[in-house]
Parts: sequence; structure tokens; C-alpha cells
Amino acid sequence: MGSGTTLVESKLLNRHAVGVDINPQSVSISETNLQFQCETNSKIFTRNGNATDLHFIKDSRIDFICTHPPYANIIKYSKGIEGDISLLGVEAFLNEMKKVANEAYRVLKKGKMCAVMIGDVRKYGKVIPLGFRMMECFLQAGFTNKEIIIKEQHNCRSTDYWEKQNNNFLLLAHEYIFVFQK
Ligand SMILES: C[S@@+](CC[C@H](N)C(=O)[O-])C[C@H]1O[C@@H](n2cnc3c(N)ncnc32)[C@H](O)[C@@H]1O
Repeated sequence: MGSGTTLVESKLLNRHAVGVDINPQSVSISETNLQFQCETNSKIFTRNGNATDLHFIKDSRIDFICTHPPYANIIKYSKGIEGDISLLGVEAFLNEMKKVANEAYRVLKKGKMCAVMIGDVRKYGKVIPLGFRMMECFLQAGFTNKEIIIKEQHNCRSTDYWEKQNNNFLLLAHEYIFVFQK
């Protein structure tokens, strides 16, 4: 859920939606952001939970998944919440994303889409292709690649910082939206 952007868009588009986040703060921020009037009848549910375990959703019930995980531990979203994958290094993060991919596959209806936004990361001057490594988790879970969308990034908050590093490397200037199909 993060701050609830996907749920806000769901409400505006008159779609029923279930949002999941491990951080209770994210749940309350999302609920605040959802408090607006619009002429739709959508039912929106928020859930403080772990995306690796969606036991509260039965198999093959969901029409579309839209998820935006942390980029391993590049931005830490909590100070120690158990299950928060933004606290994990790349390999441990990918292990959890395999579980997320399996659960996403289980709850989605056959033929429907799962969209995942993620970016690559740089450590010690080297690029780690986190996006493609995460893509493999979803393919292993049984999904096929419907689309790979490149989202260009402009005027990011961290651009100034990275430009001043002067480390002889190019800025990461894009993120991916993988659209997987069950
Ligand atoms: C990149 S943010 C999402 C931002 C969101 N797209 C928005 O517009 O605000 C990633 C979110 O994943 C959550 N998260 C981390 N580990 C999780 C897990 N195991 N299950 C569910 N959510 C998790 C974090 O608390 C954080 O809110």
C-alpha cells in the first residue's frame, strides 16, 4: 500500500480493492488518503499483513494485482518490523519476493495480470539488476511476461546527491513495470 496510491486510484476507477502492507503506519496513512468523496461504489479494504502470506484470500479470486515492493534495502520503510522486506539485503529480499510471487500467482484468476514496479540498485559503484532478478522470481512462480514497461525518472529527490558523488558512473534513469500474466 505505501501511502495508498493504488487504493486511491481503485476508488476513483470504481474497482473493489484489497491493499496489504506490513507497516501499520502505512495502513493508517492509506486510510486517511482514502477519506474523500467520489461518486463510486467501490469497496476498499486495507490489511496490515505480509504479502508473502495472503491466506485471507482464496485461490483464483483476484482480477488484477498491482504491487510496488521496496528495492531491497535502498529505502528502509521501518526500523525493525518483522517481515519488512525493505530491511533485507538483495539475496534475502529475492527469497521473500519468491514467496510474494507464489502467493500472487495463487490468488490471481487464470489469464489475469500482475503488475510490479521496481528499479535496479547500485552498490559499491556496480549495478545490481534487481528488476530482472525479481522478474525471474515471478517467471519461476508460473507467470509469463506480458510486457516490460520502462518508466523514465526525471527530477528525483536523490538526483542531486548522486550527481555530486562524481563516481564515474551513469545515473540510474529508469524503473520497470513488469506486467506478468497467469
Ligand atoms: C515502495 S513502497 C510502496 C509505495 C506505494 N506505491 C505508494 O504509492 O505509496 C513499499 C511498501 O512495501 C511495504 N512492505 C515491506 N515489506 C512488506 C511485506 N512483507 N508485505 C507487505 N508490504 C511490505 C513497505 O512498508 C512499504 O510501504
